This record gives sequence, C-alpha cells and structure tokens, in this order.
Amino acid sequence: MIEKLKKVIQEIKDLSINSAEELEVFRIKYLSRKGIINDLFEEFKAIPNEQKKDTGKVMNELKQITEFKFNELQVVFGKKQKEEQIETDISLPGEPINIGARHPIYIFQNKVLDVFRKLGFTIAEGPEIEDDWHNFSGLNFPQNHPARDMQDTFFVNEVFSLRTHCTSVQVRIMEKQKPPIRVVMPGRVYRNEAISARSHCFFHQIDGVYIDKNVSFADLKQTLYFFVKELFGADYGIRFRPSYFPFTEPSAEMDIACIICKGSGCNVCKHTGWLEILGCGMIDPNVLKVNGIDPDEYSGFAFGMGVERTTMMLYGIKDIRVFSQNDIRFLSQFASQ
Ligand code: DAH
Repeated sequence: MIEKLKKVIQEIKDLSINSAEELEVFRIKYLSRKGIINDLFEEFKAIPNEQKKDTGKVMNELKQITEFKFNELQVVFGKKQKEEQIETDISLPGEPINIGARHPIYIFQNKVLDVFRKLGFTIAEGPEIEDDWHNFSGLNFPQNHPARDMQDTFFVNEVFSLRTHCTSVQVRIMEKQKPPIRVVMPGRVYRNEAISARSHCFFHQIDGVYIDKNVSFADLKQTLYFFVKELFGADYGIRFRPSYFPFTEPSAEMDIACIICKGSGCNVCKHTGWLEILGCGMIDPNVLKVNGIDPDEYSGFAFGMGVERTTMMLYGIKDIRVFSQNDIRFLSQFASQ
C-alpha cells in the first residue's frame, strides 16, 4: 500500500492547477467524501496491524500535502477572482498614508546631540534603575548629606533607586574610559514630585562631560556659547550665575535670553528677560579622584540640561503632561519636523 500512496503523492506534487475551476475538480477528486483520499483511508483500515505504523505515516503525509496544496491555491485563485470583480475607479482620491511623527522631546534632543556631535562628543546611555554609588556617592554626595534632598528620589530598595539625573552616566563613563573623555548622555530621569502642568515625576535630561589636560572654565563657557548659537541662533545672549552642585566646583547655572521676548520681558520669563536652561561647572577634583582619574593631571567640565522645559518654550507648549499622554492629535503636529 505504501507504494500506492507514494505514487499518489507524486501525482499531486506534479499536478499543475491553473484556475479556480481546475482547483474545484482537484478538490472533488482528492478531498471530497467520495474522493481518492477517503477511499485510501478505508483501504488503510483493512491492512494488518503490524503494517499500520509505517503506512499511517505515509498516509498522513499524503493528506497534509493535498490539503496544503488546496489551501495555498485557494488563496491565490480566491484573491484573483475578487480582484477581477472589482473594477478600478481611477477617479477616486488616493488612500492617505499616515506617516508617523517624531516625538517633540526627541526632535529637540536630536538637535542638541547634533551640535555636540559636531564638537567631537560621542553619545552614551546608562540604566534608569541606578545604584547609590552611580547616582549619589560617586558624585560626591556623602551619605546623609543634605544635598541628597535636592532631588526627591524614588527608592527601589536600600541600594537602588530610579536615577534622579543623567549625571549618573558620567560616573559609569569615568570608571570605564581614560581621558580625553568627551561624551553627551541623554536619557530619562525620575523624581518623586507631584504631577502638574509644570512638573512631572519623569522627564528627560542631557548631560555632557569633557575631561582632558588643562580643561578650564573658559572651555566650558566657549562650548556652551557655541551650543546656544548653533541651536537658537546668534542673537541670544547667555549669562552664568553662581550655583551649587556637589559634583562641580565652581558651579554655575546658565540662562539664555528669553526665546519668546528676546530679553525684553514677558510672562514666560516672568519679566526677567532670562530663561534658566542648564547647570554646569568644573568637575570637583574629588569626583575625578574617586573615579580613578588623577586630578593633578586632568581637569574637566560638566553640564546638565532638562529637555522638557526648553522644548515647551520652543513649541509654545503650556502643559508638560501632554508629552506622555500619547494623544495622536498632539503628536501628529510634529510630523513635518
Ligand atoms: N544633575 C543636575 C540636576 O539634575 C544638573 C547638572 C548640573 C549636571 C551641573 C551636571 C552639572 O553635569 O555639571 O539638577
């Protein structure tokens, strides 16, 4: 019987079927209740038991091949038939293709990264769940130091928390790389803050770091001047105000002339003419030392900026929550950017 089955298998494989009608003939001949395959099953029932195992295998193969061929061709001819029935009306308007849009946060982020790429900075990322060393201790925040309260932290357990800033990536870079180091580090950060139109419990930051021999505050200022000029244009003044961060000494905050009123005073800049856009400073020698870089040989600057606030100003967005609401009406407005 096996021989017979194999012959039928070959016959089916060789068969060429070219239309829906031929396919129907095929179905009736092989797969219908009175078809060949059913007859063969009847025959199979009658063979001696010891032959059943081997013969059954070939029998199943035959059934599968026949059904597969039928199903496959049914798709082909079924579709063709449908297409023939539909007359094409070439006067109908085309179907619109919805193209996606980049998220405004990443439009702005990419612009910033492009500027620093031009200056030879590479890009690095780090984990969002971070240990105490990388988020705090390695950045000169001693245990129980009040500076830790500057950032309301979401703790995971004794050791881990959601990172409160991208400066944590700076520690990861220093432990792996030897100077010269020139890196920008974008990413999402988390703070335990009430959600409102102006603040959120997660947002984005871009940190930057440059470590080499003889890096000075003048290098920091010049780099940031260049950054503002490239990003916003030449007419925006900047100013530095003294500030405090545990990981930089001296520390500063940098303001740019208000994007909206260009310095004359408006609601957005609260009539000061200035907008605070980043924190920066010279890396504290202690931070270099605990991360294996000799502060007598090397110095460095660092800066860190929030992405949401500047993006909101650039696009006139009034509520920070829209960034994470996934409202397609909001997001699709950025399709051309
Ligand atoms: N990590 C700081 C924050 O989240 C911002 C910052 C300030 C980063 C100064 C820096 C820096 O790298 O040098 O508020």
